Amino acid sequence: MTDQAPVAYSGPERVLSGVQPSGALHLGNYLGALVKFTKLQHEMDTFIFVADLHAITVWQEPARLADQVREITAAYLASGLDPEKATIFPQSAVPAHAELAWIFNCVARLGWLDRMTQFKEKSGKHKERSSVGLYTYPVLQAADILLYKATRVPVGDDQRQHLELTRDIAAKFNHDFGAEGYFPLPEALTQGPGSRIMSLRDGSAKMSKSDPSDNSRLNLLDEPDLIAQKIRKAKTDPEPLPETLDELKGRPEAENLIGIYAALDGRSAEQVLAEFAGQGFGAFKPKLADLAVARLGPVGDQMRRLMADPAEIDKVLARGAERAREAAAPTLAEVRRQVGFWGA
Ligand code: TRP
Repeated sequence: MTDQAPVAYSGPERVLSGVQPSGALHLGNYLGALVKFTKLQHEMDTFIFVADLHAITVWQEPARLADQVREITAAYLASGLDPEKATIFPQSAVPAHAELAWIFNCVARLGWLDRMTQFKEKSGKHKERSSVGLYTYPVLQAADILLYKATRVPVGDDQRQHLELTRDIAAKFNHDFGAEGYFPLPEALTQGPGSRIMSLRDGSAKMSKSDPSDNSRLNLLDEPDLIAQKIRKAKTDPEPLPETLDELKGRPEAENLIGIYAALDGRSAEQVLAEFAGQGFGAFKPKLADLAVARLGPVGDQMRRLMADPAEIDKVLARGAERAREAAAPTLAEVRRQVGFWGA
């Protein structure tokens, strides 16, 4: 080997993630993101933000945006995020995100962004009518992460490619500006129960806020009756439940409902099957509905209580923003020096 091995990052581990304030949160967000954040805050220094800069890459009604930010914050708090432990803040309240994103726009290559599959999906047939922000969205995401030198990023599978891009940007920045080991190469945390929650209407599609059918998802703000009704209507097949996971293959709707039960109950899918093997969905669905109401009902209630007092939420966000600005300042100051800006 003639190349020198890159100097590894040696700073502390830090968790960072964010959710966009665009549309209602559902069971997939809850299990795949919020519950994970809540666990991680006990293990590591944790930064969780509301990605309003990302949200405006597609049109957001200005009169509603701040309330959407408060709603996501209420969901964070209702899921158990503790503002004393985790730093919770609105992305737009920390201008350093946008500043670092600009510098990273000059580090990332067009070819890298051209490969991003999420842009292709979101822009659809009308690429030329998409915002430039939507195209450079993953560069802003890299800035979100690297501004705090986060090493672990809990996200859905669909974000893996954005994390690869983040590592590419970190490595190129470190290389180009003679700062080997300066930025960490952060890792996506995509595993865990609840990381594959599918639509209640189609077991092969992810549960999504953009699905036109509201019956496809359980929203955190759905009332208990509606939760039970959506589970009653959930697509299934006529077979009884089998004894093993293997036998669920090829039955995506059945697999999904078992997975949801397991994630909500903190058990493995195998354990859930052991309990329900041989029973049909007529017996299983009411049990699942009871469990979903028992787990999600209190989260929705707590969100409604919190949202009734926006000033309290705003206090949490203002304090978090201050802490985030303090944590971000040294990175941005150093990057400005490394790039060679006047006065840095
Ligand atoms: N792109 C992420 C999503 O849609 C949201 C996001 C923005 C994010 N910036 C981030 C997630 C930084 C993790 C880290 O889910």
